[in-house]
Amino acid sequence: MVKNKRDIVTCEYGDILAENIVDNVGQLLIKESTIIDKNIKMKLMEMGVQYIYVYKNQESEKEEKIMKINDIYEKDRVIIKKTFERLSQGKMLETREANEISDGLFEKIVNEPFINNYLTDLYERDSYTYIHSLNVGYYCMVLGKYLKFSHYNMGEIIKAGVLHDIGKIKIPLKLLNKKEKLSKEEFEIIKLHPLLGYDIVKNVDSISEDVKLAVLMHHEKENGSGYPNGLKGQDIPLYAKICAIADIYDALTTNRAYKKKITPTHAFKILRSMAGDHLNVELLLIFLENAYRCYF
Ligand SMILES: [Fe+2]
Repeated sequence: MVKNKRDIVTCEYGDILAENIVDNVGQLLIKESTIIDKNIKMKLMEMGVQYIYVYKNQESEKEEKIMKINDIYEKDRVIIKKTFERLSQGKMLETREANEISDGLFEKIVNEPFINNYLTDLYERDSYTYIHSLNVGYYCMVLGKYLKFSHYNMGEIIKAGVLHDIGKIKIPLKLLNKKEKLSKEEFEIIKLHPLLGYDIVKNVDSISEDVKLAVLMHHEKENGSGYPNGLKGQDIPLYAKICAIADIYDALTTNRAYKKKITPTHAFKILRSMAGDHLNVELLLIFLENAYRCYF
């Protein structure tokens, strides 16, 4: 059996730990020979472990190679790769390719009257939030694809992503685009946008309750330190958790007036450090595993 150093995100279920995992005082946390499964992988991520040594038997290596070849030929993967590359370079969304992944659903959603009016107004007012909203809708759709969402749920998660920051249309532009560090009072105003957004969508019949809650809760954190309500993981709905990952990934990989964008690889590392406390580990793992395969 060959011992391999593996990034925690890319190690496979069924790999065998080749070394003990110990904490910084040398106490044993996970024993050598433990088989990596979903729970072990999530535990390692939560502990902040970045690399591990694993044994791979030849059978699983063979299987892995075949899976990789299949992946290369899988149409969606190729499109998603292009998507990640283009979006992370700050380029415009191409609806044609989003539609190839979602069978035309993306275009249908952005043409729904309420969403179309919102995006049209937003384009005029705040071009960053316009692009960001489309990108987040796009990443949410990609994550929905990874999660094997039904056609209906794909439509819902695209809507949640596109609408998540709708409340920002009520926040003064000078605050949204401020180059200098925001004061505490100014940040408190920005933090009102999920509540303001919920207020805008709450009586819109074409928007489901699940999507409305994603607008309200996309800044909640797993450990309860988010806003507006300080909800803990089990009380945060799925769409809000997905929006949070898509939102942060896009914010990190896009240039702003007050900060330079970072590379996708760097962004993956930052996301990984947010596992458990801020972002849902299970969803993050799915996002990172698939995004990694697109890049490497
Ligand atoms: Fe937001």
